[in-house]
Amino acid sequence: MKRQELDNINQLYQRKLREHFNRELPLVFGSGNVDSGIVLVGEAPGRTEVEQGKPFVGQAGKNLEEFISILGILREDLYITNVVKFRTVQFNPDSGRESNRTPNKEEIKISTDFIGQELSVINPGLVISLGNIALRCMVNDDRASIGTLHGHPLNISFFNAHFTLFPLYHPASIIYRRELKSTYIEDLYKLREYMISNHY
Ligand code: URA
Repeated sequence: MKRQELDNINQLYQRKLREHFNRELPLVFGSGNVDSGIVLVGEAPGRTEVEQGKPFVGQAGKNLEEFISILGILREDLYITNVVKFRTVQFNPDSGRESNRTPNKEEIKISTDFIGQELSVINPGLVISLGNIALRCMVNDDRASIGTLHGHPLNISFFNAHFTLFPLYHPASIIYRRELKSTYIEDLYKLREYMISNHY
């Protein structure tokens, strides 16, 4: 039932993107346990995610595995998705290669209805946002900052979903900013406490 509803939402999203961008983009849809009370929301898939058709299976996914183990849960217990479900890239003239870039306002705007519907179907009690893009989307505020809001639970109504949002830094940011690692680990222990007290 939930899977069918999610498939319908995904098809509508695919159609909307095709019409908007005038081409077919390879998409990486949410994956995992659709009956989970906990959803992880990232930013957008990277190259490995597009290759494998699953969110968080590249380098950021490895960091994520470490984090999930601190929480004492298994990846299979969660539902994992992204705000934007296609890879957003920039071309680097020096290397002649494409690299990931942060999704822009237009890409986020066109995707927001669909992550709203996706969460309304899954109906989790707890959503863990990873990084600024997912946080800003859920709190509906472009100026919200992970630097201030990380590690603090917030009550959120987003489309037809009502949940506690627990904002975390993006696991990829730990790769580039090693100094964040200890804060990130502290936040994970706070999240673990929250989950224990709220019977997750
Ligand atoms: N980063 C994200 O935000 N999502 C992924 O799926 C992979 C990397």
